[in-house]
Amino acid sequence: MLSSRASCNSHGQDSPYFLGWQVYEKNPFDQAVNPTGIIQMGLAENQLSFDLVESWLRKNPDVMGLNKDGESVFRELALFQDYHGLPALKNELVEYMAKTRGNKVKFDPKNLVLAAGATSANETLIFCLVDPGQAILLPTPYYPGFDRDLKWRTGVEIVPVDCWSSNGFRITMSALADAYRRAQKLNLKVKGVLITNPSNPLGTTMTRDELNHLITFAIAKNIHIISDEVFSGTVFDSPGFISIIEAAMDPNLESPDLWNRIHIVYSLSKDLGLPGFRVGMIYSNNETVVSAATKMSSFGLVSSQTQYVLSNMLANKKFIGKYMKENQKRLKRKKEMLVSGLRKSGIECLKSNAGLFCWVDIRRLLCSDTFEAETKLWKTILWDVGLNISPGGSFHCSEPGWFRVCFANMSHATLQVALRRIKDFVQRWSYGGGIGNKISYQQNMSNLNRKLPSNWVRKLYSSEGDEQDIG
Ligand SMILES: Cc1ncc(COP(=O)(O)O)c(C=O)c1O
Repeated sequence: MLSSRASCNSHGQDSPYFLGWQVYEKNPFDQAVNPTGIIQMGLAENQLSFDLVESWLRKNPDVMGLNKDGESVFRELALFQDYHGLPALKNELVEYMAKTRGNKVKFDPKNLVLAAGATSANETLIFCLVDPGQAILLPTPYYPGFDRDLKWRTGVEIVPVDCWSSNGFRITMSALADAYRRAQKLNLKVKGVLITNPSNPLGTTMTRDELNHLITFAIAKNIHIISDEVFSGTVFDSPGFISIIEAAMDPNLESPDLWNRIHIVYSLSKDLGLPGFRVGMIYSNNETVVSAATKMSSFGLVSSQTQYVLSNMLANKKFIGKYMKENQKRLKRKKEMLVSGLRKSGIECLKSNAGLFCWVDIRRLLCSDTFEAETKLWKTILWDVGLNISPGGSFHCSEPGWFRVCFANMSHATLQVALRRIKDFVQRWSYGGGIGNKISYQQNMSNLNRKLPSNWVRKLYSSEGDEQDIG
């Protein structure tokens, strides 16, 4: 009854990445109402600096009220339907993107195409650059949503570039060459390589060497580079972020039409914590791509109301500067809390400097070195420990036992409960239980609550400690 596109299963919704969310939805943790519920650590949302945005909105009621200089702009916005987007927003976005890249790169608003989030931007770019049955190379581990965004409706194939823990999952020339050869063996024409920098799920920025390898490879094979930089504003530690555009400015990497084959995808979903606003974009120096993507953007425009609100917010340079700094400080603090808490349980994370998550090495808790064992451990942690973390297999990781653990969508207090649950689980595991010997997390939680004096629990939940008004 349905089209083959609608019924084909390359959407990826059966992956544990999405299944974990469904299980969480049925039993969400809430200290007051459901203290034994599941804690959501599988969602890369940035909720740490909402108070700053909310405070700005309170101080600028005209913006939300759609007024400008005392006059209503409601009619103007209600009728606006130019798919090129509001010039004011595009001007602000390019300045914001330049600021996030330390003003080492200049962006031209003419080369920017608006889209309904990075999801839509990625799919639109693939529609513009790759034909059905052709391929795009993608380093692993990669964001599970790419199976949907790059493949599902476009009919394009993903060929993984396998990266390994032995070098911190860095992209090497031989890994790229190996993936290219595999694509050729499958008779797939490779049109490009897509990177995520900073990486989801690794939480790391790409080194200049890695970027140089990538550019050299793309020049040699005459293919495109798409750089998904949605986490560029989350870099909270050194080494700093190097955008693909900055790396391509290296005079040693000269190639006549390299600039025409480099494209950036960006959105405000992660850096400003606004995934619901659906503000994404493509930046390309290739006029033909910009023109085609602009026409395609009709299928995923950003509402004029949202464009208006955000152009005003981004225009407030003082606010944005302070927001970025404070947000990075909060991310760093939360990440350190997760890393040190896990370390106390004998669990290590890949060293990271960006993102809303850590890439956690739980290989030692696997009963065998297989993805079946990883799935079994994931289920135990979800159902018995009460934490929704995402297994590496759902990120197409080449080695079992790595998990992505998100930290920016919860309060300090919730993170403490999560860390306590992990500690108890690891302790039970090391006392010989393994994962076969189940004590349910409800049992675990009632033990835990018995151990904590109730006034201490109340204090934990009333002290968010994150909030600060920067106006
Ligand atoms: C690497 C990457 N690209 C794109 C997206 C989608 O972002 P958006 O909400 O802007 O569509 C995500 C969301 O997690 C992501 O991690």
